[in-house]
Amino acid sequence: MSDISLNDGTTIPQVGFGTWQLKGDVAYESTLAAITAGYRHIDTAAIYANEEEVGRAIAEAISQGIVTREDLFITTKLWNADQTRAAEALDLSLSKLGLDYVDLYLIHWPCPGYGQYVPAWKAMMELKDAGKTRSIGVCNFYPEALDELIAAGATPAVNQIEIHPGFSQDEMREENSARTITTQAWSPLGQGTVLENKEILRIADEVGKTAAQVIIRWHIQRDDVVLPRSSNAERIAQNLDVADFKLSNDHMAIITALDDLADQEESGVTGRVGPHPHEFNRDTPAE
Ligand code: A2P
Repeated sequence: MSDISLNDGTTIPQVGFGTWQLKGDVAYESTLAAITAGYRHIDTAAIYANEEEVGRAIAEAISQGIVTREDLFITTKLWNADQTRAAEALDLSLSKLGLDYVDLYLIHWPCPGYGQYVPAWKAMMELKDAGKTRSIGVCNFYPEALDELIAAGATPAVNQIEIHPGFSQDEMREENSARTITTQAWSPLGQGTVLENKEILRIADEVGKTAAQVIIRWHIQRDDVVLPRSSNAERIAQNLDVADFKLSNDHMAIITALDDLADQEESGVTGRVGPHPHEFNRDTPAE
């Protein structure tokens, strides 16, 4: 799978392995299965409470000779309650992951009610200068908040936002690209139900691939970075096996138009499933 260039001169593998909700041995086994299957990009976060298991899987893959550290692109995220202590938070994440540096460190949510994302961003700029992260970026940011970060002295390399059929987020994607920011898609499979949508199943049948592969391909052809998650080794491998087919412009348009069916009964298609970035704040429970 190909790499995408980021605005800071680094590159990122376009398909990454998402680890949200993977815990304990499942997180370890799934991450190791992902690296074994060929993923070179792993996405975790302090709040996922699996950095130790992800780190153990990375160490095991390196010791088995499957990869070197330099082959991997590892992302973790600054949790909301830690926005006033980014340096300590990244040190803790690095020690749990067993790494000297991450490839990408992200502010997890803007938390506008908390009013700390600009100072947090300045601290992240220092962490990048110190070599503890190669790139810095954000998740769930909206245009006004992005502009405040840019005015503070650095453009985020990425903005990781909720995107899936039913919630294709074209406006926010355009806002990102107007600022040279790469869009990453979280919950790219809409957490599951869209896999039963009949249009998606029809396209899957037509191209001889699974519904999940069709959706991942839709993200790829939109030039977004896509972070599918699975706890099953076969599905983990299947989700990366998406380089040998293309969706037509018609297929792409049909999938994007599923936004019109969002939240209609029996469509399987949902609109936004996660919190609204303007409303999610530091003390909002994580799950
Ligand atoms: P499982 O872990 O049992 O494979 P998202 O990435 O949008 O959050 O979606 C994750 C959900 O999609 C999980 O419930 C995962 O279940 C399921 N999933 C991931 N890949 C596939 C696949 N290839 N086929 C079917 N379900 C999948």
